[in-house]
Formats: sequence, C-alpha cells, structure tokens
Amino acid sequence: MDNNSMQNRICLVTGASAGIGKATALGLAQQGATVVMVARSVERGQATLNEIQQATRNPNLHLLIADLASQAAIRRLAEDFQARFSALHVLINNAGVISATRQVTVDGYELQFAVNHLAYFLLTHLLLDTLKASTPARIINVSSQVHSWATLNFEDLQSEQHYEPRKVYGMTKLANVYFTMALAQRLAGTGVTVNCLHPGVIQTQLMRDYGTAMSGDTPEAGARTSIYLATSPAVEGVTGGYFVNQRQAEAAEKSQNSAIAERLWTISAQMTGLA
Ligand SMILES: NC(=O)c1ccc[n+]([C@@H]2O[C@H](COP(=O)([O-])OP(=O)(O)OC[C@H]3O[C@@H](n4cnc5c(N)ncnc54)[C@H](OP(=O)(O)O)[C@@H]3O)[C@@H](O)[C@H]2O)c1
Repeated sequence: MDNNSMQNRICLVTGASAGIGKATALGLAQQGATVVMVARSVERGQATLNEIQQATRNPNLHLLIADLASQAAIRRLAEDFQARFSALHVLINNAGVISATRQVTVDGYELQFAVNHLAYFLLTHLLLDTLKASTPARIINVSSQVHSWATLNFEDLQSEQHYEPRKVYGMTKLANVYFTMALAQRLAGTGVTVNCLHPGVIQTQLMRDYGTAMSGDTPEAGARTSIYLATSPAVEGVTGGYFVNQRQAEAAEKSQNSAIAERLWTISAQMTGLA
C-alpha cells in the first residue's frame, strides 16, 4: 500500500511504548495510519506518542492504557477501544516479556504465559467482531524464531514444577504460532487474515531483567516485518503464515500439529473465560 492507502486505516499496536512496538507505531504513523498505541504506563506511553507525533506530524495518534498481565484490564482496553473507534483494520499483538523469576499475575497465571500468549488470545477475541466488520483486516502476532526449539508441556503450562525463563519464553512464542494457525482456519473466508513473524534479533529492553540490553539489529529493522504484514498489498489475503525478513518462511514442523494447536486453543479459551 502506498502512503495514501494507510490513511483512514486504524491500527492497534500493543507494547507500543518501547522497542519493536514503538518502531512499528512510528512506521505506521509515517504511512499516515491512525495508530492506537497500547502501553501500561501513561508516562512512557505519552512520551512515546509525543515523540512519534513530533517525528511524523501525524495528528491521528492515540494512547490506551492497559496492563496486559490482567484480563480485567484487557477487557477494559477492548471496551475503551470500541467506545472510541468504530473500526479496526490492523491488530498487532506485540507486547512481550521475559521474566527472570517466576511471577504470577492477578489472574493466577504465570506472567510470561499470560502476557505473551493469553493476552494475544483474549484481546484478539474481544476485538474480533470489530475486525470482521472492518474487512479487509489483518491480525499480526509477533512470535520469535525461538519457537523452533520450544515445546509445550501441557502437564505444566504454568511452569509450577520447573521455571527456566528462556524455556518458558520459547513455549509462549510457540503458542503464538499455534494460535495463529488455529485462528487462520477459523477466520477462513471472513476477510480477516492472521499471520505471525520473527522480527529478527533486535536491540531492545526485552532482557531488562538480566541487566543486559539485547544486542542485534535496530528496533526499526525489527519492525519491518510487522509493518510489511500490516501494510503490503503483497500479503493481501495471505493468512496462517510465519514471516521472517518480510518473506513467508517455514515455521517449525511441530507448529503444524493441529491437535496440539486445538488443545492449546481449548485451554486458552477456558483460562480467559471465553469458553
Ligand atoms: N528483541 C528481540 O530480539 C526479539 C526477538 C524475537 C521476538 N521478539 C518479540 O518482540 C516483541 C516486542 O519485544 P521487544 O524486543 O520490543 O521488547 P521490549 O523493548 O521489552 O518491549 C516490550 C513491550 O511490551 C510491553 N509490555 C511488557 N509487559 C507488558 C504488560 N504486562 N502490559 C502491557 N505492556 C507490556 C512493554 O511495555 P513497558 O514499556 O511498559 O515495559 C514494551 O512496550 C515481543 O513479543 C518479543 O517476544 C523480540
């Protein structure tokens, strides 16, 4: 799509206060989209919004506040969005966390599983009718290449028996791929597509718990595939894909296992009160 074609397109980006999400919001704002930035901190969110507004002069930037570790907050976020906007053309589930120690959310779930997977699942479902009424519409789930060495342990999805932060993180990123595949099947023919991606290895604050910055490419480079999936006519109608470097790639073979994807779907629906 050229610059004009993103005008009047409403895009929601979670984790827009930092890293890849911030660069994604900036890129979409540069293309003239209406960008709804979701952040958990008013201060960080507003500072980022101001920065992007100054850089792009885009008058259509908005901030919504939600701690995505709380399902009540996700429900309020969806209500706030629907009260203020009548359409949603692009939903980018991007917010993510790696927690060095096992933490439990207000809903009683392990934090990484809650923020990296259940929040994608719940927010998408709450906004699905709006997306379906706004077709063509696109859902983009930011996963990671680390999904390929992860496994889902259904006996210990909450990592109560064993918590190894990076393994748990990998499991949540594999869950992103399963969610994308299972959702794509359900959305076939609706005009709403869903794809997931690996953004690259990107310099962000993702490893903040370890007191180290991630080394790698710039956040701008990390946002390219998300922006491509949100805007490019080349992926109009493409769904259920896994993308790396703005190209469709093979997700790990295990992520094509629809029995596992469906089992995860059922459990996720129960855990988010949707079933
Ligand atoms: N960096 C990489 O190399 C890499 C590689 C593969 C995949 N990814 C994926 O890329 C996505 C973005 O990560 P990043 O690297 O840009 O990390 P980041 O710089 O740490 O940014 C993460 C974003 O998520 C937000 N967030 C975290 N927990 C939240 C919560 N409970 N409620 C609301 N927002 C929350 C953060 O908000 P605050 O500003 O308030 O903390 C921040 O805006 C993640 O899904 C990650 O898994 C990253």
